Amino acid sequence: MVKIHILTLFPEMFKGFLSESIPFIAQEKGQLSVNLVDIRDFSEDKHRKVDDYPYGGGAGLVMKPEPLASAIDSVSQTSDISLPVIYFTPQGRLLSQKTVREYLHSPEIVIVCGHYKEIDQRIREKYITDEISIGDYVLSGGELPAMVFTDAIARLLENVISDPESALTDSHENGLLGYPCYTRPYDFRGMKVPDVLVSGHHKEIDKWLKQKAIELTQKVRPEFLVSVSTEYNLSQKKTNVYLGLVHYPVYNKAGETITSGITNLDLHDISRSAMTYDIQRFFIIHPNDRQKEIFEHILAFWKTDIAAIYNQHRVDALSVIGFSKSINDTINFIKNQENNEPIIVTTTARHLDNQVSFEKIKKMIEIAERPILLLFGTGNGLHDDTHKQADFVLNSIKQKANYNHLSVRSAVAIVLDRLFSEE
Ligand SMILES: C[S@@+](CC[C@H](N)C(=O)[O-])C[C@H]1O[C@@H](n2cnc3c(N)ncnc32)[C@H](O)[C@@H]1O
Repeated sequence: MVKIHILTLFPEMFKGFLSESIPFIAQEKGQLSVNLVDIRDFSEDKHRKVDDYPYGGGAGLVMKPEPLASAIDSVSQTSDISLPVIYFTPQGRLLSQKTVREYLHSPEIVIVCGHYKEIDQRIREKYITDEISIGDYVLSGGELPAMVFTDAIARLLENVISDPESALTDSHENGLLGYPCYTRPYDFRGMKVPDVLVSGHHKEIDKWLKQKAIELTQKVRPEFLVSVSTEYNLSQKKTNVYLGLVHYPVYNKAGETITSGITNLDLHDISRSAMTYDIQRFFIIHPNDRQKEIFEHILAFWKTDIAAIYNQHRVDALSVIGFSKSINDTINFIKNQENNEPIIVTTTARHLDNQVSFEKIKKMIEIAERPILLLFGTGNGLHDDTHKQADFVLNSIKQKANYNHLSVRSAVAIVLDRLFSEE
């Protein structure tokens, strides 16, 4: 039994949601209880005002702290244990099936639904125990996220879904997306149900369904497969890997965002490493036209002067280089080239949250059906916004010595070797 206290300015929004389908059944079966609390009831203002202008100016209204604090106290003080208080916000960690399952063990949960521009920061600091986002977009209030969360909890409660096995074979339960489903008629407008499903061989059916789930996951969310066992037949397609050397936006030593200048050595050395590891294309990413001219000038020298006669291998290597004005232009180029969105992997010498091991990225690249874009930063490294845009941030190159100030061309060579070497 889970009791969810939902603190909202719009309790009426929940009426339909709670009186239909699974949330209704969960309440009927005594497994779920929802207590709707109108935050406005805790306003001390005679007009029941709950919002005010932000200190420091700026657009939008902020939900006042006093009514929110009193509303939270009113529910948490009725319990002997300290209750988790969730604030749904686009700034929170992303809601996942794993998070939903974590909360299944809490007998009581408090949810604060925000509205307007924001809730007062002091409530977040003093009362909120978890901040969760339901996706990277902005809604007008926390009511829909609260319903999303409540529904996801309700369907996992005991005896709510008639066949609990069904919930366990849904997307995200075993690290995979769901498998395709068919029902009668057998022949729908000439489209027949796959033979294996009508064969009666349960082992074969299970194997087929699992294989279909893996194929779909591989196509749509390959990042999930890094943690899925390899006992299934993952197609060993050769992945096209692209490299990007980012000159903007990057940090300087003072942590300021800057545009760095291109260097002859990077062009020369990284293109040779790229060629050695069969990289599809290596992009110098720079927004500046003047730097593009310098880039072309350097390439022209290596390709056409006496240098070319001296070293043809260098000319071959330089054929892998391209120039791109921005990370987004690079992504679009790859999309057009491959008819598929690249999986973006960023690199850093820093220690950031959610970094992924070389081993996992290596495995992901082996099985991914989408191209990969590996991004390296010049200057003092890639901007945080670039890491946020990435699907994965690779672990930094660590060795025993406590020194991690490699030149970017050395870092590229080491990363390529760790990800693509055969031995
Ligand atoms: C207009 S939004 C405020 C957005 C906020 N100013 C920001 O920049 O992050 C109003 C409220 O809707 C809820 N909300 C909006 N989008 C959400 C999302 N993706 N996930 C969870 N809650 C969300 C939050 O409770 C938020 O306080």
